[in-house]
Amino acid sequence: MKFFIDTANLEQIKEAQALGILDGVTTNPSLMAKEGITGEANIINHYKAICEIVDGDVSAEVIATDFEGMVREGEALASLHPQIVVKLPMIGDGVKACKYFSDKGIKTNVTLVFSAGQALLAAKAGATYVSPFIGRLDDISTDGLNLITEIREIYDNYLFETQILAASVRHTMHIIDCAKIGADVMTGPLSAISGLLKHPLTDIGLEKFLADYKKGN
Ligand code: G3P
Repeated sequence: MKFFIDTANLEQIKEAQALGILDGVTTNPSLMAKEGITGEANIINHYKAICEIVDGDVSAEVIATDFEGMVREGEALASLHPQIVVKLPMIGDGVKACKYFSDKGIKTNVTLVFSAGQALLAAKAGATYVSPFIGRLDDISTDGLNLITEIREIYDNYLFETQILAASVRHTMHIIDCAKIGADVMTGPLSAISGLLKHPLTDIGLEKFLADYKKGN
């Protein structure tokens, strides 16, 4: 299972990278705005800075909502760095643009996916990644994890190569449940990733080991 961090915060990206478990980064316009990154030139520089920190794929989202605009923006983003994955919204023109980029061998991430049907379309269009938003489904009393299960079943039925990138992951149990279901990738905040480290018995056990060592030395 690949671990992506879902942030545009360079310090958090560095921290996850330093842990040695990071496979990539996902961003979106809201995450960029949260870090105060505005204006095309700053956004482009920020993507380049992220690519310098991590070794894996970095999703960069287009702002255009029409096919021509998405192609124009996506091509510019893809030319920034070989690690850039063009992130496209799950709308008709996004599906068309996904097919366009996949035919050209450019990696894509189809985002804002909330149903199995949308995920099926993304796979048919040759998406590298599909991003079902599990936390936002949970927010409206709909089982986000069930969507991951449905997509896994459909993709396995037809051996689609599109990777299921569980997105809008909010906490550690989302990560563990996605791993049990077989999501290929999860993207979440640093808090959810580092939360996996924690267990009180580990802390108690380590404390005892160190205390016992000190007794004998
Ligand atoms: O990966 C998608 C993500 O950025 C959305 O997360 O927590 O805003 O629903 P959230």
